Amino acid sequence: MNASKSPLATTPKFWLGDETTFDGAQLFNSNRPIVVFDSGVGGLTVARQLERLIPNANILYVADNGWFPYGNKAGPAVAHRVQQLFDRLCERISPSAIVVACNTASMAIMEHGLDQLRHNCFLVTPPIGDAVDTSANKNIVLLATPGTVKSRYIIQKIAKARMHARIWPIATQALVTLSEARLAGEEASFISFAELIDNYLTEEQRLSVDTVVLGCTHFPHLIDDLRKIFPNTDNWIDPAKKVAMQVVSLTKKEDNPINMPLKIVLFTSKQDVAKYHQVFTKNGFGAIQPIDRRDFYEIA
Ligand code: DGL
Repeated sequence: MNASKSPLATTPKFWLGDETTFDGAQLFNSNRPIVVFDSGVGGLTVARQLERLIPNANILYVADNGWFPYGNKAGPAVAHRVQQLFDRLCERISPSAIVVACNTASMAIMEHGLDQLRHNCFLVTPPIGDAVDTSANKNIVLLATPGTVKSRYIIQKIAKARMHARIWPIATQALVTLSEARLAGEEASFISFAELIDNYLTEEQRLSVDTVVLGCTHFPHLIDDLRKIFPNTDNWIDPAKKVAMQVVSLTKKEDNPINMPLKIVLFTSKQDVAKYHQVFTKNGFGAIQPIDRRDFYEIA
């Protein structure tokens, strides 16, 4: 791809929720943050696990709302976009780690480049092997974006898993939109997703599923609705905790002299930033000043 001719060639900017540009790099001079990255609100499911395991870590959440959604875009374009954002981010701050809390971006990075080592990246990927190990009757559904489902990585993982289990991959972009809407407090109906399922599974198959892989970080936000679609599912396989544990074991602990850690969210576009910012504030992100997080741990 010729980057200089691409519309992506413009230097990315990072915005705070009050529509000012991010000028807080000096805040992190002595305690480098963990960056949590996603196209939207999905990465909150990963941030929550990081907060549980490393309560005093500074977390800088970066939501690429300017490019949302990723799931229906071409892999090389997503990888190029992410590379550009991370390069820019690393010029401004020096994160202790970047957690790519987006399965679609992780697939694009694995298949189309990005210097993971240079950026100390941790990737979230759908744990299909764990699902096969956990499932009792080996009837498994993978829910993920179209980009993830058609990635080479997933195609290979599914081919391997099929030696031991029945696995039904379901590509859905609608569920990502639904998750964003729900978190923003908007009315959003699950009916079209329920109908989509009928294209993939007979009723008998749907009721036989005992394990669902949540292959998109947006989907744990919808767990209550998903339970109604798959009422006999005992195992909801979410990679968030696993990646958080990898970060804990492989990242040097930063000294954090302040009692309350910084939780800041940056956006890549000013569009709808106020609406977005409210969602993050409700989940404990957003303020430049340290905030007391004791009330924020559980969201439904
Ligand atoms: N949360 C992202 C993932 O895990 C995808 C959302 C999107 O389509 O932008 O794949």
